[in-house]
Amino acid sequence: MTREEALDSVRANVENENSVKHMLATEAIMRALAERLGEDKEEWGLTGLLHDIDMELTEGDMSSHSRLGADLVREMGASEAMAHAILCHNQAHGIPLETKLDEALFCADPLTGLVTAAALVRPDKKLASVEAKSVRKRFKEKGFAAGANREQIATCSELGLELDEFLELGLKAMQGIAVDLGL
Ligand SMILES: [Fe+2]
Repeated sequence: MTREEALDSVRANVENENSVKHMLATEAIMRALAERLGEDKEEWGLTGLLHDIDMELTEGDMSSHSRLGADLVREMGASEAMAHAILCHNQAHGIPLETKLDEALFCADPLTGLVTAAALVRPDKKLASVEAKSVRKRFKEKGFAAGANREQIATCSELGLELDEFLELGLKAMQGIAVDLGL
């Protein structure tokens, strides 16, 4: 599966532009994590890009979300490791995270919302004007971007990353695709 094929499939299945941007942001963070950890950037990036491909197909039904997604990406030729990471990123199924790829997707997923919100409160609403220290500060404000699950983000420790390093890595990764994110 090429990245272009993956993105085409995402666009074919997800109409909401913010959802597509969330997947692009997750892809960028996953690639940066793979780079940092010496893992497969293509595999990790594609896992991030595809992880919510069933978001609209499952219409918010958390009991089917990510099960369908895992099936879809398998049909597209994704590796079993990718399908498993996508399957267990929705913890509603109670399937344990087993691999580094599983752990990476799980902690990267909610970070995109925190970083996006940190950009949107800047006067210019641009990622370029967000500093790592402000993401760290916002992380500690419980009411800020409350949907971005802090405990889940903090599971970056399972990958051997300090929280501060992970927040900065996520910010930089998203800044690198700011044009695509419209931020
Ligand atoms: Fe997601």
